[in-house]
Amino acid sequence: MKNIDKKREEREKSLCFKNIAPLRKKLRALPSIKDVKVLLDDVITLESKSVIPEEKVYIEEFAKELKPWRKGPFKLFDTFIDSEWQSQIKYNLISPYFNLKDKKVADIGCNNGYYMFRMLEEKPKKIVGFDPSPLFRTQFDFINHFIKSSIVYEMLGVEDMRDYPEKFDTIFCLGVLYHRSDPVSTLKSLKVALEKDGELFLDTFIIDGEEEIALTPKDRYSKIPNIYFIPTTKALFNWLYRAGFKEIKLLEVKKTDNLEQRKTDWIDGESLENFLDPNDANLTVEGYPAPKRAYIKATV
Ligand SMILES: C[S@@+](CC[C@H](N)C(=O)[O-])C[C@H]1O[C@@H](n2cnc3c(N)ncnc32)[C@H](O)[C@@H]1O
Repeated sequence: MKNIDKKREEREKSLCFKNIAPLRKKLRALPSIKDVKVLLDDVITLESKSVIPEEKVYIEEFAKELKPWRKGPFKLFDTFIDSEWQSQIKYNLISPYFNLKDKKVADIGCNNGYYMFRMLEEKPKKIVGFDPSPLFRTQFDFINHFIKSSIVYEMLGVEDMRDYPEKFDTIFCLGVLYHRSDPVSTLKSLKVALEKDGELFLDTFIIDGEEEIALTPKDRYSKIPNIYFIPTTKALFNWLYRAGFKEIKLLEVKKTDNLEQRKTDWIDGESLENFLDPNDANLTVEGYPAPKRAYIKATV
């Protein structure tokens, strides 16, 4: 058995964990709804005249059991999933910069697939999502049960891209790099997974400044435990050059605000308002500069 198959098999075991297995059982019992109309807009919306009240109740209850919903929003018949993040803001910010027609596309750290569903509108040749989380995979399967797309969801991580048997024309790696303790090596894994002339779309936290440096939080950053490096834009460019990317373009810089990330009924924990200094929204509760992201396009 190849390494990648072993890894896939290993990761898929998490679908049998005791908190996930009951959700997988409920997923298998989802009703089949006829004539579903799919609207791939800011709110990914499913409509059908055939769905009956008992089915709507099952869908709503199951959606609640799949909390926390970080990415969205989705409207599944009568159920509006008001996710913590208004993911259309990020999608609409980067979508003017790409054309996915007939491309092989990978979304690394795809979460529940919100962006991948939006990308279907672009008519790519293929979309593969990578994310090791069994809960987000189950959210994806729930939505895709009705959309019936041919998106492939791999429970593999960015670290597995070197061994992945296929290469991609366009790779999205959004909101993942700051979670890696080895950012240059992570960028190299992305480069290896690109076809010749392939392009990478990346976003990650940055700090302001002209120096070629990175902030390294001792513990948490904005209450997030696994944040390793937050570079200046110049340092981020250097990482990309070191990883072998050639043309690197800064597309946008955006501070996270409470239009984009906020507490809703679809998450149980805290959100942005609790992560920032109550007396100074320019700082995190730990006293670091508040979250700001750079959006980058880089080609090989
Ligand atoms: C901050 S979220 C970003 C989600 C989405 N890409 C976005 O930008 O809105 C990070 C995502 O990366 C996923 N993740 C965690 N470890 C990963 C890994 N090793 N490789 C790829 N994705 C990973 C998490 O499950 C989560 O869905």
